[in-house]
Amino acid sequence: MLGGAVEKRYRRMRPEVETFPWGTLDLSGVPADELVRARLAWTSAAYQEHRTGVDVTEALRLLMQAQAPLDLIALGSRFPLDETVHVELCARMAMEAGGGTEILYDPTRMILGATFEGRPLLQAAELMVRFFCVGEALSIPLLRGTWKAARHPLPRAVLGRIVKDEAAHGTFGYIFLDWAEAQLDRRDRVLLGQAADLAIDAVISQWDEIRRRPKAEWQEGNALAWMSTDAYLELAVRSMNENVLQPLRDRDVPVSRFPNGA
Ligand SMILES: [Fe+2]
Ligand SMILES: [Fe+2]
Repeated sequence: MLGGAVEKRYRRMRPEVETFPWGTLDLSGVPADELVRARLAWTSAAYQEHRTGVDVTEALRLLMQAQAPLDLIALGSRFPLDETVHVELCARMAMEAGGGTEILYDPTRMILGATFEGRPLLQAAELMVRFFCVGEALSIPLLRGTWKAARHPLPRAVLGRIVKDEAAHGTFGYIFLDWAEAQLDRRDRVLLGQAADLAIDAVISQWDEIRRRPKAEWQEGNALAWMSTDAYLELAVRSMNENVLQPLRDRDVPVSRFPNGA
């Protein structure tokens, strides 16, 4: 943070952040390994939000180049700020749990930009499908589930804020596709189906990694409690079917993946 006048102006853009009950988590009864788990989870959430910020900004640039409708672009121009706020919220949660953990990544390879050759509309569509129709659409129900499972007012406030913002992100890709539909031919759609498959494969390999982790102990009343691994994975598979595969197929994007049950 730069602080001073810049921070004040930023705070005025999202005043609710300072009203959250920061500093009220009582972690005295939480075992050390659970604390490390929480620090890791919130730190990697902060990184994911940071990366999503890069995703949405790149998609927005291509939407502008593709001369997407002005009101649609205007709606999406809020997203980089949303993701920036989410980075702060998750990073502060990690601090509340005892501090951020180390994250190693290559900043030149944070995201996979558009790979399709040709017109900006098709490139924009590629990113809209990968980042929004798969990534953001899937994150809405998962975040909502995690929010509902959270007990303490602080994580509830943080997750509640993120869920509110993400509602608009999750439908954005499909609003775009409904507009772009008339300009996409069969070949374009096959390419978009492949782009969706690529993004879905990345999500499925994340699930495999979650499955391999030692099982979290589900402690009712634990200040840090969120969804148990099994409940999360079950919801993830259902959400993939309902929020990603079905809406893509409804729009004639030939996605070929069927995730296995959790
Ligand atoms: Fe976010
Ligand atoms: Fe988002």
